[in-house]
Order: sequence, then C-alpha cells, then structure tokens
Amino acid sequence: MFRLGLKFLLPLVVLLALLAYALVPLTESLTLSWFHRDLDVRARTIGNTLQDSLSPLLLENSPSSLEKAGALLDKVTKDERLLAVAVCEGDFELKIRSALFPPEITCRYAGEPQGVANETGRTLELPGGDVRLTTVGNLFLVHDTSFIARRQRDAKTYVFLLFVAIGVVVSVVTMVVARWSLLGWVKSVRMLLSGAKGHVPLSFAMASQNREFLPIMKDLKSLVRDLEARRASAEEGIQHWTPKTLKNLLSEEFAEDEVIVVSNREPYIHKRNASGGIDVQFPASGLVTAVEPIVRACSGVWVAHGSGSADRDVVDARDRIAVPPGKPQYEIHRVWLTAEEELGYYYGFSNEGLWPLCHIAHTRPIFRTSDWETYRQVNEKFAHAVVKDAKTEDPVILVQDYHFALLPRLLRELLPNATIITFWHIPWPNAESFGICPWRNEIMEGLLGSSIVGFHTQLHCNNFLETVDRFLESRIDKENASISFQGHVTAIKPYPISIEWPPRWQAEAPSLFECRRKVFARHGFPEGHRVGIGVDRLDYTKGIIERLLSVERLFELHPQWLGKFTFVQIAAPSRSQLPSYRNFDAEVRETARRINEKFTGLQPEGSPPPLLLLVEHHEPQQVLEYYRASEVGFVTSLHDGMNLVAKEYVAARDDDTGVLILSMFAGASREMSEALIINPYNIDECGEALHHALTMPLLEQKERMRSMRSLVREFNVYRWAARMLMDAATVRRRNRLLKKTGTWNQNAKSFFSERATTPR
Ligand code: F6P
Repeated sequence: MFRLGLKFLLPLVVLLALLAYALVPLTESLTLSWFHRDLDVRARTIGNTLQDSLSPLLLENSPSSLEKAGALLDKVTKDERLLAVAVCEGDFELKIRSALFPPEITCRYAGEPQGVANETGRTLELPGGDVRLTTVGNLFLVHDTSFIARRQRDAKTYVFLLFVAIGVVVSVVTMVVARWSLLGWVKSVRMLLSGAKGHVPLSFAMASQNREFLPIMKDLKSLVRDLEARRASAEEGIQHWTPKTLKNLLSEEFAEDEVIVVSNREPYIHKRNASGGIDVQFPASGLVTAVEPIVRACSGVWVAHGSGSADRDVVDARDRIAVPPGKPQYEIHRVWLTAEEELGYYYGFSNEGLWPLCHIAHTRPIFRTSDWETYRQVNEKFAHAVVKDAKTEDPVILVQDYHFALLPRLLRELLPNATIITFWHIPWPNAESFGICPWRNEIMEGLLGSSIVGFHTQLHCNNFLETVDRFLESRIDKENASISFQGHVTAIKPYPISIEWPPRWQAEAPSLFECRRKVFARHGFPEGHRVGIGVDRLDYTKGIIERLLSVERLFELHPQWLGKFTFVQIAAPSRSQLPSYRNFDAEVRETARRINEKFTGLQPEGSPPPLLLLVEHHEPQQVLEYYRASEVGFVTSLHDGMNLVAKEYVAARDDDTGVLILSMFAGASREMSEALIINPYNIDECGEALHHALTMPLLEQKERMRSMRSLVREFNVYRWAARMLMDAATVRRRNRLLKKTGTWNQNAKSFFSERATTPR
C-alpha cells in the first residue's frame, strides 16, 4: 500500500512543483501592478486633499506662508509609505519640499512619461531601494515601496504553502479512497473466488455489483475459469477414478517417490483355525475398506500391527508379507506388540480414551496415565518401523487414525523432509468436549507434525481448528484452514472418504435375484418376505440398540408388517476385551431376544422372526450378498466420521432398487441427501422411516438410488486418495522449491492461501 501510495504521490508532487514554479512569477507581477495602482490612487487622494490646504499658502508666497506649507508637507510625510513631497513649478523648479526629500530626485522626474499603461506613477531604482514617483498637479510625491517587496515575499510563501496543503489534502484523500476501493475490490475478488470454489455463480453477480470493477472482474472470472478448468482436467476431468488413473497420477506426480501407509489395523489378518490351518481374514473396518484399494493401486508398503494369531508364521525375516494372498500387489510390514502394549495403547488409550472422547455417544472416556505412556511408546515404535521402510529421505507417509496422533511429529523429527498426510477417520468433537483429555495438547502437537491433516467433513475440520485455537499457542489462518505451529504449517482439509468403485467383490457376485434366493433359503424366509439389513462392528457408537428399538416401533405402529418383514443385523464382534463392549454385546443380544419374544405370539405361526441378529465376522463377499438381498439398508450411527456401510449398501444395489435410511449424525448424510435421513434417537421417526421405506414406490426408489449410486461412483475412494495425494504433490513441489530459495516457512503460508482459493 505504501509503495502504491508513493507511485501515485511522486508524480503528484512533481506536478504541483511545476505548477508552483509557473504560478509564482505570475503572482509576483500581478500583485506588483495591483500595489502600484493602489499607490497611485492613494497619491491622487493625498495630492487633492493637500492641494486644498496648500494653494492659499502658495498664492500668498510669503516666507511665513511658505514655511507653513513646508510644515504641512512634513506633516503629510509622517505617513510611513510616503517618503517625501515637493511642489514643482514652471520649468520643473522646486518650490518647496518636505524635509527628507531625496537629493538625487529633481522636479524633472515629474515631467517624464509614465512607465506602464493604466498606471499614473513610475518606479525609480535608487541605491537605498526602489521608490515610486507620482505627480498630482504641481505636487510631486515620492513613495517608499519597500513594503511591496515584503508583501510579495509573504505572498510567495503563502502560495507555496497553499500548494503544499493542496498536495497533502489530495494525497490523503487519494490514499483513503484508494484503500477503500482496494478493500472493496479485494472483497469482490474474494466473493468471486469463493463462488468459484463452491461453484456458486451468484457470487460473481454479487461481486460485480461494484460497477467500477466490472472489467477487472470479468478478467478475473475468466482467470478463475482457467484455473478451474486446469484443476478439473487433473481431478474432476477424470470422471471415473479407477486404480489405473490413480496409478497414472502417482507415476506422474510421485515418479520415484515411495508411499508408506501406517495404521493400527492390518488389511489381512492371518488366524489359526480350529483344525490347525491358517485362515486369512479381511477385517470389518471402514479404514481398511477405504485404504486397501489405494495401497493396491500404488504398490506401497503398509505398516500395521500384526494382530492375527498366525501372523508371525507367515511373514519373512523382515516381518513382511506380500498381499493380497494369491495376487500380491504390495507388502504389509507387521509391527509386533506385546500384550501389555496392546492393552495400554489399543484397548486403553485409543479405545477407552480417544474413541469415546471423539464420538459423542454418551460413553464416558477413561484416561489412565499408564495407557497414555504405552500409547506414546507404541507411537515411537511405529515411527522407527516407518523409518526402517523409508528408502528415501522424503517419502510420502499416510498416517491413519486416532491410534497414531503422536506419530506425525515423531516422523517429522526423524524424516524432516517427509510429506505426512494424517487422516483422522473418526469425528473430531468441539473444543469443550476434546478439552477434557489430560493430554489434549500433546495430541494436537503430535498431529501438527503433519503436512496435511484430513477429516471426513468440514465440521470436523472446524472443530479441530477451534480446539487448537483454544489450547495451543499457534497462528491459525481460518480463512485458508491452516495452522502454523512452531514454524511449521499444517493444512487442515476435508476429504470425504468413500469406497472403491466398482466394488471389489461385485464383479464375481451372483445377481441380486440369486443373492436373495440364497439368503432366503439360508434363513427360511418365504416368497415375498421383506428384508432390511444393518452391518456394523458391535460398537456402542453405531446406534444398534436404537435400530432394534426402531424395528420394534415399526411393528407397534404398523402391525401389518408382522410376519412379513425381518430385519437382519450383522454385528462383527469388536474390542471384546473391553467391559464397555462386552456390556454392549450383551445389551444388543438381550434387546433382540426381548423384541422377538414380544412379537412371537402376534405373528402368523411359523413366520420368520422380526429380528435376525448375526453376531459373527462376515467376509466382504458374504456382507455383499446380504446387501443385495435386502430392500432396506438401515444406518443409525449415533456419531460417525463417515460410515461406509451406507455407501457399500448403495453400491451393492445395481438394479437401482432399495432404500437407504441414514443417520443424520453420520458424515455420509452430508453427501447422500437422497437417503431417508433420520435422527436415531427419535425411535418413532425411525419406525415410520422403516414403514416409509417398505412402501416407497419403485420409481421413487430408483430415482433416489440412481442419484446416490452416481455420487458414490464419481466420488469413490480413488478420488479421495487422489485429492490427498495431489495436495501432497503440491506440498512437495513447493517445499522443494522453497527449500532451494531458502524461504520455506514464510512462504509456506502463502502456498496454503493460494491452494485454499483454488477451486476443487
Ligand atoms: O471407520 C474406521 C474405523 O472406525 C477405525 O477408526 C477403526 O480403527 C476401525 O474402523 C475399526 O476398529 P478396530 O480397528 O478397532 O477393529
């Protein structure tokens, strides 16, 4: 702004100086002629007045009368500007004169022609200074003009000061107007850019209300369009993200770079079975569902806890195993934990502390110092395992979830040039809720070792920014969603997670009709029976009790469904070492038993039960079969980062039929507005939603389902990963460049500002 001001002010000052230079002589000559005319007029007035008194004395012409006349002249010259007066007669003869008449002036001067038109006097230069001579009749007046020079000097000073004042006023006004206009302009540009970001054309119209900016806004609009188009060709331009397009992106952006994923849960668990053989299990985990296809696509390394009973039996000497079994595409690096470590880090701090802390599901978190200590140690153990895997000094490391809040900072210290993207798969609560954690600061400091921290939704990003703002000494750029902490900048971004498309098992899956036939046969459902499905880990955040109560309410409100509808709940046992999970397991079983018992007598003899609770692990292919056999998918999470079951159900329905009922407290509800959105705490509403789903016309089902399917197809997990990796690539490029120019930290912020206004 100062520089801009100078650019404008300098020419203004030069212009004013030139003007002053031209105007001062003009002012001088003008004022001089005014003063002369004034003097001449004044001389006439004095002369005429004097003559009345002088004439009789001169006529008398006696020594005494002439003495009196001289005294009169002396009296008149008391006036400071009238230097002398004389009476000249006949042939320029001096008759009488005042006492101080200059000797070098004679009466001859009175007869000489006037100097300038319109002036009756003339100026004479004398050694002691200029005088003005005027003649009125026979009176010859000599004026002291030194006051004119004095006044001219004053006038020059005033003119100069006037120009300075004009200059200052014009500059101040200009600066104020320029600043005000700049603010308006910036506001307009911001509106335009934010409109471009959110694809809201209205913003341009609003921004364009400032008519004076219209031309520049037009240019900007086309610039934004260009940027949008460039980004679109790199991201949206690829309509269907697939493993291949992701691979291409990786080879373009990360040609020689390695990608390392770290999570607690491993994607393939080797378990010893009852007959002594080894089974491979694909765990029930949203994280694994989403991240596994990505690692397959980029052939990276996945560092994870080796938790299976036969895990050690199948790894090589470096604790690695190539997976997927039978068709290896990447390696799992298994990290071994002792029973104590697993207890303190996984069961304790992660799942009795952070899990209930981050999910507002009204289960009280438990914080033990010993758990925290173990959590810290296990994070360190994983940090060293990752470093072992890193072949370069700047790998791309994807840290997954709440088990590793400290890992990003530990890695930053060990591999300062690494690009660390941390994805938090669960919600981040508001600052008050998170603030109760005794180690809240350490957790946030740990996460801020990342280059980017990702959450499922903007709300979770906002909560994280507010929590850091509340508790850490940091600089937060809310507008650009970045946090500067101890000289390092971390971007906080929403990346709504998704599933692979087409779903991995779907190609080989039997038709919907066949799946239905198999499930019906398995459970003895009669022809025309209606089926709903819920799939979860047995976790108190999933709203399973509320879901069962909603089925009960459906039968109470609409008893016509008794004997005609069964709700199947697949519940994968989870974290069963913890009392809260064991209690929950028992509560779910008891609720299902009670509801079934309640309606047994009310249903036609031999009808399938209202509820079918399947508490056991199901492999993805089996889950898919149930999705395809069920016309209602029911998700009632009390609080959930995203909930991929909602997306899996929709993906499985490839004939476009079926209805999804979805909790408003699951991140997925922000994207899948065509689902029947419910509040799982409102059991009446949920019961009615079930009825509404079961009676929804086929046409409406298809419309809703088609729209949700196209969303999941387009915003699939490859796109989720691509967006994170593209941001990581930009961070890397910029950091490499800034490192070369030695301005890493100052400019890191502007990088994020730039990215934040880039349409996505
Ligand atoms: O949705 C992801 C997630 O909830 C993770 O946060 C969690 O680790 C996983 O699914 C399942 O839990 P666990 O690994 O403890 O079995």
